[in-house]
Amino acid sequence: MPSKTVIKTFCRELLTKQTATRKTEPDLVMDDPEKVAAYTRAGREDGVMAPVYLFHCAQICEIIKPGDTVLDLGCGPATQLAMVARLNPETHFIGMDLSTEMLDKARNYIAQQHLSNIEFQQGDITHLSNLANKSIDAVMSTVVLHHLPNLDQLENTFREISRVLKPDGGLYLVDFGHLKSEKSIHDFAYQYAGRQAELFTLDYLYSLQAAFWPKDFYSLYQKHLSPFGKYYQTFIMPYMMVVKSPSRRNIEPALTKQLRTLRFSMPKYHQTDLKDLILFFRLGGLQSNFLS
Ligand SMILES: C[S@@+](CC[C@H](N)C(=O)[O-])C[C@H]1O[C@@H](n2cnc3c(N)ncnc32)[C@H](O)[C@@H]1O
Repeated sequence: MPSKTVIKTFCRELLTKQTATRKTEPDLVMDDPEKVAAYTRAGREDGVMAPVYLFHCAQICEIIKPGDTVLDLGCGPATQLAMVARLNPETHFIGMDLSTEMLDKARNYIAQQHLSNIEFQQGDITHLSNLANKSIDAVMSTVVLHHLPNLDQLENTFREISRVLKPDGGLYLVDFGHLKSEKSIHDFAYQYAGRQAELFTLDYLYSLQAAFWPKDFYSLYQKHLSPFGKYYQTFIMPYMMVVKSPSRRNIEPALTKQLRTLRFSMPKYHQTDLKDLILFFRLGGLQSNFLS
């Protein structure tokens, strides 16, 4: 059962007119050491983002195959990337970010985890100049695009993805969608305030305020990415938007079992959050084949 905050926000967003405006992120590239540390902690182990990472991990597993080279745009501290890479040891990953601070965290984490199927590149996702046309088997990106300052930069990123991705390549992009009211944004950002560092709550608030409007995101998706996959959003209240290619592999029992183990070893409140996310996306048309 979704929390009271989620139900109230859902009703408000259904009935309200758009009053909120987009505010760009104060840190376009995340370089501040304290904020990077707070963000990293929120993702690791049983951090507040654990259920979200697991949801995206299961989705990404559907669109990558053994032998692929997969590009992660804006990999940050590599929590998401490491989770996917651990479950897919035969796949090679390139984690790209502009932030030196984030890449240091990412490299340390990968070394601690003894993962050898990830390399890192410092680079700008809006301009993938060192990657050749049609050279990448799959592209993933999780909660990064709202960091871009404007629609031109979002369009550059989508154009670059369509240039480097192979025609039958895998694609999984997910980002926040802008909610219509400031009150909804505030309530969403503060719903887990008791479970996380204040800096992370603020970071989440800024992210929701910086999210692109679904209609803008969708029209750029149509222009550049529609040959690669479909657009989805969470039901009625588009607080998350996804572009996903068709599944490129069978639902393997061994992988399903590993994801199931991760799911049911999370604390109960994380399992509830994950269930809500699966439900809101399923109602928006996006199935979660490895987690259902
Ligand atoms: C909110 S974090 C997400 C990290 C990771 N994908 C995750 O799911 O945890 C956003 C990341 O995007 C990076 N970023 C922002 N703009 C970028 C750009 N133009 N090129 C490369 N990285 C960028 C930031 O430095 C930051 O590490």
